[in-house]
Amino acid sequence: MFEPGDTDLLTLTRYVLEMQRLNPSASGDLTLLISAIQLGCKFVESCVRKANLINLVGVAGAINVQGEDQKKLDILSNDIFVNALNASGKVSSMVSEEIDKLIHVNGHNKGKYCVTFDPLDGSSNIDAGVNVGTIFGIFLEKPDAETPEESYCVPGREIIVAGYCMYGSSCNLVITLGKNRVDGFTLDPSLGEFILTHRNMRIPSLGKIYSINEGNTQYWDEATKQYIDSLKYPDPASEKKPYAARYIGSMVADVHRTILYGGVFAYPADTKSLKGKLRTLYEGFPMAFLVEQAGGKATTGAKRVLDIVPSEIHDRCPIFLGGAEDIENVETYFKKYQ
Ligand code: AHG
Ligand code: MN
Ligand code: MN
Ligand code: MN
Repeated sequence: MFEPGDTDLLTLTRYVLEMQRLNPSASGDLTLLISAIQLGCKFVESCVRKANLINLVGVAGAINVQGEDQKKLDILSNDIFVNALNASGKVSSMVSEEIDKLIHVNGHNKGKYCVTFDPLDGSSNIDAGVNVGTIFGIFLEKPDAETPEESYCVPGREIIVAGYCMYGSSCNLVITLGKNRVDGFTLDPSLGEFILTHRNMRIPSLGKIYSINEGNTQYWDEATKQYIDSLKYPDPASEKKPYAARYIGSMVADVHRTILYGGVFAYPADTKSLKGKLRTLYEGFPMAFLVEQAGGKATTGAKRVLDIVPSEIHDRCPIFLGGAEDIENVETYFKKYQ
């Protein structure tokens, strides 16, 4: 579908327009909404790039609804996306990790989409210069919803667009509009454009890397313990090699590597975090949708992540995501030990 030549740059804007052309009933609203998100990502990228230079690192002195110390960049990136989404005129309401309540869009700016976003994921890493990112998901507003929250407390499989933008050695935006297609774009700062660089991303079915915070081992349930041990100490008779351990602590970076290289990323439920730590609407669902559209799977251990119905907008969920065979292996352990 997309065969860009050297001078025939396939920008994200052109990509989304081509996806719109494939959908005869498309109004163009989603194209404009994704353009607004793209602008937000470029703006945050420029702030992250110079954070140390303009005293944008460190804490802001406030605590968010999650009980976390908000970083200055958490708040700045939140404001950037709230304004960009508001101005797009295509959003009905939005949920941000950094804002307790649902954010309503009123008046002439009101549109039909519900957007969930983690404006700055991995922000505990920002002062150390480690990759951070933005995660977003787009849902259609439920017209018959009695309360705006009802549009969010739906099965995750109703998500229509998901993506992340990783601010690292380069700025990579990865997006899916469904149709079993995930594509990756790299920001060319000289053009200010995201250029298609990772066409039709597919996650290897069986990998060689596991990514989990082993500092929580004492809190894990038996299924998680037995599964992770099976990767670290494979049966000698099987001739399998142990998996390598990689854990960056920014979900965007750990998931990006998992989609590219394969393996498993996990933040399970444990005795310390009974529903896991990651937030369903703006971490779990978008990443689960991306991984599934790239040919992988995402499970809580007991069920498909995208079959969860959140109980409230900052609900959390356990998650194991990765290649199809790797995740089927996880499910086998949960059937055996849960
Ligand atoms: P955020 O910075 O948006 O609050 O998210 C942090 C999350 C996620 O990025 C990462 O996978 C996880 O926290 C790491 O948690 P631990 O430090 O407990 O391993
Ligand atoms: Mn946070
Ligand atoms: Mn996050
Ligand atoms: Mn965050």
